[in-house]
Amino acid sequence: MIFANLEQLPPDPILGVTAAFRADPSPDKIDLGVGVYRDEKGETPVPAAVREAERAMLAAQRTKTYVGPAGNLEFNRLIVEMALGPVAAGLRERTATIQTVGGCGALRLGAELINASQPGSVMHVSDPTWANHEPLLGSSGLKLARYPYYDPAARGVSFEAMRDHVAGLPTGSIVLLHGCCHNPTGADLSPGEWQALGDVIESRGLVPFVDLAYQGFGDDVETDVFGLRYLATRVPQMLLAVSCSKNFGMYRERTGALAIVASSPAIAGAIATHQARTARRMYSMPPDHGAAVVAWLLADPRLRAGWLAELGEIVGRMKYLRALLAGRLSTRRQDLDFTWVTQHRGMFSLTGLDAAAITDLRDRHHVYLPPDGRINVAGVSEANVDRVADSLVAVMR
Ligand code: LMR
Repeated sequence: MIFANLEQLPPDPILGVTAAFRADPSPDKIDLGVGVYRDEKGETPVPAAVREAERAMLAAQRTKTYVGPAGNLEFNRLIVEMALGPVAAGLRERTATIQTVGGCGALRLGAELINASQPGSVMHVSDPTWANHEPLLGSSGLKLARYPYYDPAARGVSFEAMRDHVAGLPTGSIVLLHGCCHNPTGADLSPGEWQALGDVIESRGLVPFVDLAYQGFGDDVETDVFGLRYLATRVPQMLLAVSCSKNFGMYRERTGALAIVASSPAIAGAIATHQARTARRMYSMPPDHGAAVVAWLLADPRLRAGWLAELGEIVGRMKYLRALLAGRLSTRRQDLDFTWVTQHRGMFSLTGLDAAAITDLRDRHHVYLPPDGRINVAGVSEANVDRVADSLVAVMR
């Protein structure tokens, strides 16, 4: 019997936490798991500017005929311009962009293309990295390796170890970098570290693959991409995976893009044909809706400004929640330093809790974290912060 040999799989490390949280009948349960933003009501709203763009786009839409494997070309242009800023214009002739099924689709498509072009290539990812990076990228057939990234004692980037390791990689190695708001640690490179790393990547002939899932969630849409833009001015070729899930609140619309900057316009032209063929062979074409909404919004200066203001409020709230949580933890454990909670950027920080503590949190306190001990600070609220702090302190060893 076909499929009879398949065994039940364990739950996904992140989505499994959501399922377990939903199944818990406790009224006191707290979800610090999956990376979605939540407001003070615990909701994940669609930004008002996105809703307005959506209404206007739908009112103007006359057909739902196919758009083609590369998706919405206006979206592709605008989203790359938002990521690369002033650098984009000079790279346009050398950039091949395809709309993808979310940021995950961009990562996977990029990995497929690398593996098709240079079978046996090695992709180097940070240690640790997002729980789905290695499964998602490794399923393409690429080999995976890790570079040192995080210093658990300092709760920050272990930059010298990272830079020295990267400097020793063979020419042509692919280095996956988190554009900002590192997932799961929350620890980002400083501008000076980005420059030092960019110089190493350039001089060693390495190929950066930047995963940009949180542009605008750290400080703002410009500050967050300092490193990406610096790299783009230094290296002859790079890959960029963009996600619109978080910053546009478009999670379920699966909206993203893969941009590949090539060393010449001719190579970029060839890459575009391979992007389209690979997409055609895997899923044919991306869904239209989310990209059409984002393109509409970004092309309208009023909607764009409104969305940026809403994004600013989201970032302000996440920084406020970080300060709130750090304060409540500090009053409970005056012997410990919690400044890392406020220093990290984006939604995530690593607590450093071990598997037994995470099980305890779930079973005794109804507080849900993924197995790597990551917390989503957007799951903290004014209403639950004391319970979060009490629970975390109770399981710290
Ligand atoms: C996360 O890291 O929680 C998000 O990126 C959602 C996911 O797909 O894992």
